[in-house]
Amino acid sequence: MTYDSEYLASLRDKKDLSVLFVCLGNICRSPAAEGLMKAVVEEAGDSDRWYIDSAGTGGYHTGDLPDPRMRAHASRRGYNLTHRARKVLEQDFRRFDLIIPMDSANEDYLRRLAPTAEAERKIVPMINFVTLPTRFDHIPDPYYEGAEGFELVLDLLENGTANLHAQLTD
Ligand code: 4NP
Repeated sequence: MTYDSEYLASLRDKKDLSVLFVCLGNICRSPAAEGLMKAVVEEAGDSDRWYIDSAGTGGYHTGDLPDPRMRAHASRRGYNLTHRARKVLEQDFRRFDLIIPMDSANEDYLRRLAPTAEAERKIVPMINFVTLPTRFDHIPDPYYEGAEGFELVLDLLENGTANLHAQLTD
């Protein structure tokens, strides 16, 4: 859960920002974060500044749309999730300014994948942007949960993506 707050603060002055959200399957949490973040920047009117994507540490669902349960829950809140799953790559550390894991397993994977210490500074766990009161220190995997698991993920991510945007915007 540690991250480089100086690096994060340095991004406030950057003209264009690229953010990659990462979970395990890239069909539940990270494509939801991607969709919610895209809505935040649209609403704020600064979508030109942002490049937003998501990926998974596992490749089992490559090419798939988000899980139908996540799409249904997101749709009820007005979000249309259309991402196609892909595996995270070492070269993503060159393409993106920020790489945002959902839990500590995703974070550990990314730290091993990072090609340099400089690249590793780009990793900032999603929970660091969440200010909602929660007993979780990560974004919990909803895959084996019921409807409330998906709703919880969306609550945490709506709050976290809004705060991420605010932290990087003057
Ligand atoms: P995600 O959820 O990491 O939030 O996309 C999962 C999706 C699929 C699996 C696990 C977690 N799976 O084991 O297939």
